[in-house]
Amino acid sequence: MTHPFDTLPAPRHPDPADAPALRWGVLAPGAIAADFTDALHGHSGQRVVAAGSRSAERAAAFAAAHGVERSYGSYEQLVTDPEVDVVYVASPHPQHLELATLAIGAGKHVLIEKPIAVTARDATTIAEAARQAGVFAMEAMWTRYLPQTDIVRQLLDDGAFGDLRVVTADFGFAADFDPASRMFDPALGGGALLDLGVYAVSWASFALGAPESVIASGSLAPTGVDEQAALILTSADGAQALLSTGVRAATPSLATISGSAGRVETDSPFWSPSGLRFFRGDGSAAAHWTDTSGRHGRDGMVYEAAALARYVADGLTESPLHPLDESISTLVTIDEARRQIGTVGVGGGPAD
Ligand SMILES: NC(=O)c1ccc[n+]([C@@H]2O[C@H](COP(=O)([O-])OP(=O)(O)OC[C@H]3O[C@@H](n4cnc5c(N)ncnc54)[C@H](OP(=O)(O)O)[C@@H]3O)[C@@H](O)[C@H]2O)c1
Repeated sequence: MTHPFDTLPAPRHPDPADAPALRWGVLAPGAIAADFTDALHGHSGQRVVAAGSRSAERAAAFAAAHGVERSYGSYEQLVTDPEVDVVYVASPHPQHLELATLAIGAGKHVLIEKPIAVTARDATTIAEAARQAGVFAMEAMWTRYLPQTDIVRQLLDDGAFGDLRVVTADFGFAADFDPASRMFDPALGGGALLDLGVYAVSWASFALGAPESVIASGSLAPTGVDEQAALILTSADGAQALLSTGVRAATPSLATISGSAGRVETDSPFWSPSGLRFFRGDGSAAAHWTDTSGRHGRDGMVYEAAALARYVADGLTESPLHPLDESISTLVTIDEARRQIGTVGVGGGPAD
C-alpha cells in the first residue's frame, strides 16, 4: 500500500552561507563558544568579531585561537561595542539571565544558549526585557533549525502521522562524577534535565505542544542534582511523551513521533544533523532521509545562526520556529520535573 509520504518532503533550508552576515560578539568564551565560532566561520558568512570574558587573558587567547578580531576583559565592554550586532550568551545556565539582560540592556540582539535560563521565572524575565527593548531574542535550541527537523515539521503540518499518540526522546551521556563540574555543581546549574533533558522536552513540545500533566521520576547525584530522569508528559487529548535523560550512561539519542497513520524515527543523534525514517501506519518502512550536507555534529549550530540573521534582517524579534513563550513553557515542564525529583537548585535549596 502506498502512503502520501512514501516520498519525504525536502528540507526547506536555504544555504546558511547565503544568510545576511551579522557581526557576532561572544559572551563567556568557553567550550561551546569555541565550537559555535568555528561552525559560523567554517560554514557561513556570519562573523564573530569580538569575545568578552571575565579575564582579558582568556578573551585574548580565545580570539587568537578562533580568528576573532577583538577581545575584552569584561562582559560590559563587549556589549557596548558598537560594531557588534548580536550577542551570543555562552556562559553556564545560571548566568544566562544576568548576561542576556546585560546585552539586551545595551540594545543588542541575543542568542542565548540552552536552556535559556534555569527556571521559567528567569526565562520570563529575559523575554520581558527583550520585548521591552524591541531586540531579537532566541534560545539556542539548534535542533529546531536542522534540515531533518524541517522534514518532520512538514510531516506534522501535513497530518502525516494521523492522530498523534506517542512521542519519545532520550539524551544521556556518561560523565565522570566531579562535584565541581558544570554537570554536577548545583551552583553551576548542574543536572541532566537542564543540560540534556531540555532537548527531549523541547522535542515533545515541538510535536505535542505544552503538556497538561508531568510525571517525573529520577535519581540524584551526591551533590543533589538530578543525574537521571524519566518523564511522562500527557496532553489534554491523552497523547503522551516518554522522555529519558541522564549523565551517567550514554543512551541512543533517538527521537520518535507516532500516530495512527505513521511514525517517524530519527537517526542518532536526533539533536544534531543525522537523518530519519518514516513508517506507514501498519509499521512498514516507507522512506529514509540522510543528511549529506557535510555539516556534522556541532557544525549544525550554523543553521540557528543563519536563521537568526534572516529573522533580524526581516525585522522579527522572535523566532517563528521557536518563540520565547515555548522556551518558557519547556522550563515550566523542567521546573516541575526537578521539583518532583527533589533536585537541589542553584541556590542550594529546592529547585524553583
Ligand atoms: N548547543 C550545544 O550543543 C551545547 C553544548 C554544550 C553546552 N551548551 C550550553 O552552553 C553553555 C555553556 O556551556 P560550556 O560547556 O561551554 O561551559 P563552560 O565552558 O564551562 O563555561 C563557559 C564560560 O562561561 C564563563 N563563566 C561565566 N560565569 C561563570 C561561572 N560562574 N563559572 C564558570 N564559568 C563562568 C567562563 O568564561 P569567562 O570566565 O572566561 O568569561 C566559561 O569559560 C551552557 O548553558 C550549556 O547548556 C550548549
